[in-house]
Amino acid sequence: MSPPSVETASTTAAADRSIFPVSESQVVRLRDRFHQIRKFTNALCAGLEPEDCVVQSMPDVSPTKWHLAHTTWFFETFILKKFVPGYRAEIPEYAYLFNSYYNAAGDMHRRDLRGLISRPTLSQAKRYRASIDSHIDDLLSSPDESLLDEIEQILVLGIHHEQQHQELLVTDIKHVLAQNPLYPVFRAATTRSPSAPKISKDGSAIRPCQFVQFDEQIAEIGHNGDGFAYDNEGPRHRALVPAFSLATRPITNGEYIAFIEDNGYSRPEFWLSLGWMTVNEQRWNAPLYWIKRDGAWWNFTLSGLRRVDQSEPVTHVSYFEADAYANWAGARLPTEFEWERAALSCPIEGNFVDTELFHPVPCPVAPNAFGAVSADEPGKGQSFHQMFGDVWEWTRSAYSPYPGYRAAPGALGEYNGKFMCNQYVLRGGSCATSRTHVRRTYRNFFQPEKRWQFTGIRLARDLA
Ligand SMILES: [Fe+2]
Repeated sequence: MSPPSVETASTTAAADRSIFPVSESQVVRLRDRFHQIRKFTNALCAGLEPEDCVVQSMPDVSPTKWHLAHTTWFFETFILKKFVPGYRAEIPEYAYLFNSYYNAAGDMHRRDLRGLISRPTLSQAKRYRASIDSHIDDLLSSPDESLLDEIEQILVLGIHHEQQHQELLVTDIKHVLAQNPLYPVFRAATTRSPSAPKISKDGSAIRPCQFVQFDEQIAEIGHNGDGFAYDNEGPRHRALVPAFSLATRPITNGEYIAFIEDNGYSRPEFWLSLGWMTVNEQRWNAPLYWIKRDGAWWNFTLSGLRRVDQSEPVTHVSYFEADAYANWAGARLPTEFEWERAALSCPIEGNFVDTELFHPVPCPVAPNAFGAVSADEPGKGQSFHQMFGDVWEWTRSAYSPYPGYRAAPGALGEYNGKFMCNQYVLRGGSCATSRTHVRRTYRNFFQPEKRWQFTGIRLARDLA
């Protein structure tokens, strides 16, 4: 039993002081985080020329300039216009140009025509960023205490939103540069940091792919509410996960080449009907960015054109290709619940955009090296590798609402919910994702024919 509380003038003053410093440090942390994220976006553009930043190479790709302005519009629309009394936009027309898909926030310019917008210029877009950053600074320097929690929630959402666009900025500029027969270099390949995995040049050193078995279980799926998560990660609920096994690492380029060489792209028995139609219409015969020269496969990377490294995880494959590969290999893709269950034992470590390699790296060969962890379930001493970072892993789960999910009212309710149709869930993050952005419960989603993200394959199997 604790002693009775005796409140004195000095303890009351101490309590008061303890309230404001906490609030102040909360604001400082928030402001630091905001600036850190905004600066990283700018840093990603450091090597780009203005001409690079205005090209839209396909409807899915947005010009770099648009990403810079749209992420800024997000903070202006959902924070400044809402929380700064009498706020007036310097250039009101930006609301139309840089709204992406939020119908409740007003009309918007056509997504597929973003590359036709030469004004504002890149430098004007950068000025727009600086101006909004300074307004956010002002707001956070004297925040209305009663609104701080609400501002914080939206600011944190804006920060995660910007991290998503950082990833798109990287994958979009890769697609833009890939159109150029000169194969421009976005970032020269650098010496890998000591914390990065060692590259195996020798194919024989590739870690064998094994399967870890899991018993049937009713699993708790979804975010537990501790810290930030998107609304589509909840509500947390129970799901029956029948016995299955999951591969210890993603499929490599070398393994994928075996599928190609076995005529995988011309054998309909491995393909979904829609996939088979797509392969034939698009004349796919390899992952996106692969070309064959003198009998050898090369791929375009953000460090230029390189020989395909057989030990790297295969990437830039569609759901259709991932599914066809799995069929050819006598396996299947995991469900998102299976993936999440396996990920419970894995630390969120890996080759994220923070390493600035901008490309997946081979699975480490040494036990318990970068990205490896012993699975505590079922505890057979197996390890999963590269569950996080390197490549997003296609799951066979349709992107659907979890039981009880309801999108919030208003524009921000449009963030995720309205896309829950005709897409598949991907898990784990990639070499273009920020380490602080991804979670075990994170649900990325794309249509099955998309290949321009860093998407890869991890196999699963049913257990009889
Ligand atoms: Fe956005």
